Amino acid sequence: MNSLTGKPISFWIDSTPKTTYPSLENSISVDVAIVGGGIVGLTAATLLKRAGKTVAVIESKQIVTGVTGHTTAKLTVLHQLIYADLIKQIGEEKARLYAESNLAGIERVAAFVEEEQIDCDFSRQSSYTFAEPDDELDKITDEVKAALKLGLPAAFVQETSLPFKITGAIKLDNQAQFHVRKYLLHLAKNIPGNGSHLFENTRVEKVEEDNLCQVVTDRGSINAQDVIVATNLPILDQGLFFAKTYPERSYIVGARIDPAKAPQGMYIGSGEASHSIRTTPYDGGLLLLVGGEGHKVGTVTNTEECYQKLEDYARDRFGIETFEYRWSNQDMVSFDKLPYIGKLTPFNHHIYVATGFSLWGMSKGTMSGMLLSDLILGKENFYAELYDATRATPFLTPQSVKQGIDVATRWVSDRFKGLQSNSFAEVAKGEGKLLTIDKEKVATYRDEQGTIHAVSAVCTHLGCIVSWNNAEKSWDCACHGSRFSCDGKIIQGPAVKDLEMPNVD
Ligand code: FES
Repeated sequence: MNSLTGKPISFWIDSTPKTTYPSLENSISVDVAIVGGGIVGLTAATLLKRAGKTVAVIESKQIVTGVTGHTTAKLTVLHQLIYADLIKQIGEEKARLYAESNLAGIERVAAFVEEEQIDCDFSRQSSYTFAEPDDELDKITDEVKAALKLGLPAAFVQETSLPFKITGAIKLDNQAQFHVRKYLLHLAKNIPGNGSHLFENTRVEKVEEDNLCQVVTDRGSINAQDVIVATNLPILDQGLFFAKTYPERSYIVGARIDPAKAPQGMYIGSGEASHSIRTTPYDGGLLLLVGGEGHKVGTVTNTEECYQKLEDYARDRFGIETFEYRWSNQDMVSFDKLPYIGKLTPFNHHIYVATGFSLWGMSKGTMSGMLLSDLILGKENFYAELYDATRATPFLTPQSVKQGIDVATRWVSDRFKGLQSNSFAEVAKGEGKLLTIDKEKVATYRDEQGTIHAVSAVCTHLGCIVSWNNAEKSWDCACHGSRFSCDGKIIQGPAVKDLEMPNVD
């Protein structure tokens, strides 16, 4: 097996400056508090500030370093294969609204880029979903028919600039790609000032709604008329979004490619084991980004192999020899294919959420920022009903039932994991392992220098047992996707507390 060579960091993060916004120091009041500095939060903050509201964006680490900072940054309404299914599931009218709303998201990005002259490698591209085996071809032709029915300018093609044979593809022109951090860091610059704020390294612990909303952080409180919780999966459990979605992990590798041999456009395969392909400007040339090897969190134990398989694919299909980057991402998949955007619960009037983007967060994230700012400004939004976060959802889809069983199984049976291992001596260098010491589940990692990092293995969200992710050297919770560093620090919610220190010597 080849050893991994690419830098283990997102290209978007590596190629842009680190941000240094201040932390919250005193309690303050604003019109709208926005929890989470990703694409939803920064889009909403920009629109609300433009409309005359004072806003405070509160980010637990640095802005655009979470899910948004690890995307493939494609702006497309062609979400692999969705329209034929959506028409069957919710009807033509609502499926058309889905397409239109995502298109509105893309055009909002294009308008910001134009209005503010944002230098973010934004370019119009065609988007393709391609089939390789013949048995996927029907799905492609069905999707073309469905897209055309909805008014999307789709076409069926059998020739693309990919350097391998496909059996057919749906092609949609006039979509776009960009450098997501260059874009959002520009929007972020305009947020502080005139009563508005952007805080980093400030962790929100709870949000309460009374006459005013109160956002409680580890550094003070913020009073606001309205609050948007834009933390991928909401850190507030009341809306039960953790039970209406499941966490999916996917991987990306980046390699320099000869521009003469690079594919033009943005691609994704049609099957479950599909690959995502695009290029981006890089160091005077092009970087090929290949994504894939997605899996539900917790279902793959050797995650490093996912990168190996992606590299093998890139070598095989594009003749790549060396890799510059590798990174992974994790997003929440919605059981009914639609994101949840709107009020947290039917009983909340001023707390809003957006989640369940199912790995297509650029158009949906932007559209969420638009929709939520419209709701707060009291403006009509044609898409609000479709995405209503309090809608009755099909709790009993095959996927949701399976996820429920998985979570219950994990909650019970994971407690027996590591039962036989009860000594730090059993953990090799570079290995993460669950131990049972003094009846306590201990998540233990021994680093390459031999130092042991031991934390409680009980997830601080709802008590599942975390499992080791060897590619990212993190403890991940398969129940609802919380992630923690080897020292127990939160990397990704919904958990808002670090893993506890174990009571062991
Ligand atoms: Fe919910 Fe861990 S993320 S229990």
